[in-house]
Parts: sequence; structure tokens; C-alpha cells
Amino acid sequence: METINERDMAFSRIESSVRMQPVHGNPQGTVHGGELIKFMEDTAGIAAMKHAGGNVVAARVDELVFHKPINIGSIVTFIAQVAYAGSTSMQVILTVVVHDLNNFEKSETALTAFFTMVHLDNNGRPKKIPTLKFNTDIESELYALGEKKYNENKNKPNTY
Ligand SMILES: CC(C)(COP(=O)(O)OP(=O)(O)OC[C@H]1O[C@@H](n2cnc3c(N)ncnc32)[C@H](O)[C@@H]1OP(=O)(O)O)[C@@H](O)C(=O)NCCC(=O)NCCS
Repeated sequence: METINERDMAFSRIESSVRMQPVHGNPQGTVHGGELIKFMEDTAGIAAMKHAGGNVVAARVDELVFHKPINIGSIVTFIAQVAYAGSTSMQVILTVVVHDLNNFEKSETALTAFFTMVHLDNNGRPKKIPTLKFNTDIESELYALGEKKYNENKNKPNTY
């Protein structure tokens, strides 16, 4: 099989939309945070699999922020982008937006987070991933954010 040494940042980007149903609700009648986190992890995982070219596992979630409650019936889009690639791990930036049902040109950011995803080989051990190439100013900013998060995690005591 061909070995890919480098991938463009844009290659990993994915968007996945879901309509929030009563089954996703909490007793307050809004969407349960855990339901959203599950969708976020799934989306981050797919973006990371695209970059890595194989299986990944979530190692860490940082700075999960709930900016706004989400109502049942809302249409929500999960946007994942690999922002930084280490040796075997990736920083995936996850943004969740809620659409205005009467005007899909409008949306609001409801949640954001960084996911650390690790590429695994067939024995479940970390495996080398392609380097990440940015091509635009926005991608360069995302790369800097991801690199900062990666280095912060590496320097935290008692992380591993
Ligand atoms: C993630 C896991 C495979 C890492 O295994 P490990 O033996 O600690 O691997 P290593 O020390 O070689 O680290 C591998 C990479 O992961 C990163 N990593 C490992 N643990 C991490 C953590 N807690 N936070 C952030 N990054 C982490 C390392 O920085 C390294 O990145 P790099 O190669 O890009 O520099 C292992 O901890 C694991 O299986 N955890 C459980 C995962 C899981 O069940 N997730 C939920 C279900 S999907």
C-alpha cells in the first residue's frame, strides 16, 4: 500500500448535520450535553481517520465549551478539522453550529473543543501519521492553535 508522507489540512475537514430529536433531550427540554459530545467525538474521529489513513482513538478532550443551549428540533452541524499533526497524534478542532431554520445562511456557534486523536496500528499501538501542510492564512492560524494545544498538553504534569 502507498505511504502518504504529507496531507493538506483541507483534506481532513468534514461537516455532519443532525436534527436534534426528543431522544437527545435532557429534563430541561434542551439537548443533553453528552449526546452532543458523542456526535463531536464521532466527527473528530472521522476527520482524524481521513488524515491518518486508518483507525484512531480519542486520547483527550480540552476546552469543551458550551456557548449556547440547543433546542430539540434544531439542525446542528458538527465541523471537524485536523489542525495539527504530531508524530502519532492529531489536534482536531471541533465546532458545533446551530442553524437558523428560516435562513440557513445564518448560524450560531454552540460548542467548541479540541480533541486529541491517536492513530493506532493493527495491534492497538500508536502509529506514525502524515505531516500536515497548511495552504492559507486561516489554515496557518488553525495550525498555530493546534500546535499550541499539543505543546501545552506535552508540558502538563501527570498527563500521561
Ligand atoms: C491514547 C493511547 C493509545 C495512547 O497510548 P500511549 O501508550 O500513552 O501512547 P504514547 O505515549 O506513545 O503517545 C502517543 C501519542 O498520543 C499522545 N497522547 C497520549 N496520551 C495523551 C493524553 N492523555 N493527552 C494528550 N495526548 C496524549 C502523545 O503525546 C503522543 O503523541 P505524538 O506521537 O503525536 O507526540 C492510550 O492511552 C489509550 O488507549 N487510551 C484510551 C483511549 C480510549 O479508550 N478512548 C476512548 C474511546 S474512543
